[in-house]
Amino acid sequence: MPSSFRLRRSVLYVPATNEKALAKLSSLDCDAAIIDLEDSVAPERKKEARERVRDFFRRGERGGKETVIRINALSGEWGDEDLLAARVCRPDAILLPKVDTPRDVLDANDALDEMDAAASLKLWAMVETPKAMLNLGAIAELGRDPSARLECFVAGTNDLVKETGVLATADRRYVMPWLMHMVLAARAGGLDVLDGVSNDFRDAEAFTRECGEARAMGFDGKTLIHPAQIGPANAVFSPSETEIAEAKEIAEAFAKPENAGRGAITINGRMVERLHLEQTGRVLARVAATKERGR
Ligand code: COA
Ligand code: MG
Repeated sequence: MPSSFRLRRSVLYVPATNEKALAKLSSLDCDAAIIDLEDSVAPERKKEARERVRDFFRRGERGGKETVIRINALSGEWGDEDLLAARVCRPDAILLPKVDTPRDVLDANDALDEMDAAASLKLWAMVETPKAMLNLGAIAELGRDPSARLECFVAGTNDLVKETGVLATADRRYVMPWLMHMVLAARAGGLDVLDGVSNDFRDAEAFTRECGEARAMGFDGKTLIHPAQIGPANAVFSPSETEIAEAKEIAEAFAKPENAGRGAITINGRMVERLHLEQTGRVLARVAATKERGR
């Protein structure tokens, strides 16, 4: 469990130009928010969006949640100014869209270093292009170098569908191999990884099912577009009562003096190894973090 462990079960996008949504944010129970300067902001409102983000951070209404700013691509016409504005705001992280290669992350990191940005300012990367999928292992490897700032992958499923022409079915069957690959790459690099959004925010049942699948695939949480999605995401990505009870049982069993030197023991007729003890550590850390957040 990394010492910087943070809950990222529910990560809500908020368009920077939506004043009402920004004002609502401090009262919402999401673990994190991504204030968006990119796709949810029309080209003619990019400048205004930057000003609104500055105002938001100046007001200091982050409500104790991790707050991330998604900028436009540095290769495009708005990216440089977005990065400058974001650095001044001092969010927890900056989310880079349309990352294709490790170079895209390193360029953003170099620019932040040149601006004397604090080392605590992290980078998150959208995985949403065919090139990113092909370069994923090399991009994820940057997670092993703390000076590269990379901390989290975010699946951009809408863009992946658009770029590849894959059929977007309700069960996401054609997108899932890429999602699984993202989880694998993220773990190889020691990164967190968040599932993409569900566009149909009125269908709570489908959303809860999708969260369950994301959790089963190994994602740390889900990106959201609407407040109605926060409760279900928090619930699904929190350890269940059964998981907590099992974790405690394993921890207690290995703590017994008679099991001190043993690598594998039996609990309820099942083999349990010390690697399971490590897993329980993660479950219990999530429980502690959830309690700390108060929900
Ligand atoms: N963050 C914070 N508050 C939000 C919100 C969000 N993403 N989406 C909606 N709300 C607020 C609304 O302002 C409204 O507040 P109120 O109760 O004070 O009036 C309330 O939640 C209910 O909203 P609702 O009327 O159901 O939806 P809407 O029509 O206002 O907005 C969307 C629907 C899809 C336009 C909006 O949810 C949205 O812009 N989502 C984010 C889109 C985005 O960022 N996309 C890029 C990443 S994929
Ligand atoms: Mg996108």
